[in-house]
Amino acid sequence: MAVRINQFLTWKQQSQTVAVLTAWDFISAQMADQAGADLILVGDSLAMVALGYDTTLPLTLEEMLHHAKAVRRGVKNALMVVDLPFLSYQVDTAEALRSAGCMLKQAGAQAVKLEGGYPRMAATMKALVESGIPVMGHVGLTPQSVHLTGGFYKQGKSPEAADRILQEAIAIEKAGAFAIVLEHIPAELAQVITETLTITTIGIGAGPHCDGQVLVTADVLGLSDWQPPFAPRYANLREQGIAAAKQFCDDVRSHNFPK
Ligand code: KIV
Repeated sequence: MAVRINQFLTWKQQSQTVAVLTAWDFISAQMADQAGADLILVGDSLAMVALGYDTTLPLTLEEMLHHAKAVRRGVKNALMVVDLPFLSYQVDTAEALRSAGCMLKQAGAQAVKLEGGYPRMAATMKALVESGIPVMGHVGLTPQSVHLTGGFYKQGKSPEAADRILQEAIAIEKAGAFAIVLEHIPAELAQVITETLTITTIGIGAGPHCDGQVLVTADVLGLSDWQPPFAPRYANLREQGIAAAKQFCDDVRSHNFPK
């Protein structure tokens, strides 16, 4: 049965754990959907995974839209959420509404994800929700702020930093978000946030106490040449793919293909 936004509240109340995967094109979307993911995120990690950028910052709204439309064609059951790219929602609420609106209208997304929760971003989220656009938050390590944090490091390690992240999460819940990603923070902090909020927390590198877990599908499949410390490989498709492609090249050169 197709997943809808209101199920997340029920799942939280019933302590049913949520499985989330990312997708960046038609095939990755089909794989994640057929694997039974509850939510498929067209994460802006696709900037690094599919487009070869060093960070998520260069990704444009047009590039995201192009990928989101391909993902839409591959998702049948999961809830589809799209990340708003860097500087497509931070300038003002009108810009955020236009960017989020085009993901729903043109790509068929069912929600959008925004990074950060300080008062200004929470106000933007509230405006989106009041316009009928479901919102997912994202706190802790927020890759769009990589130049502020100085790298992709664990966040919330000091009591002050942990409290700031907790307050951001509370602000995001108050803004009307239906779920929130907690990225690369201490497990104890993720537990406190999960117990404090009534909305669904989705962890990535945030320990076992979240309401759900997300990984970047390229990491799960072992496609990337770089793996975050918290992301185990469930397969080694990069190695297998190179070996298969090499076998093809060898077969062509040695006249073993075609037979
Ligand atoms: O961009 C992304 O893939 C994400 C996940 C890591 C949560 O935001």
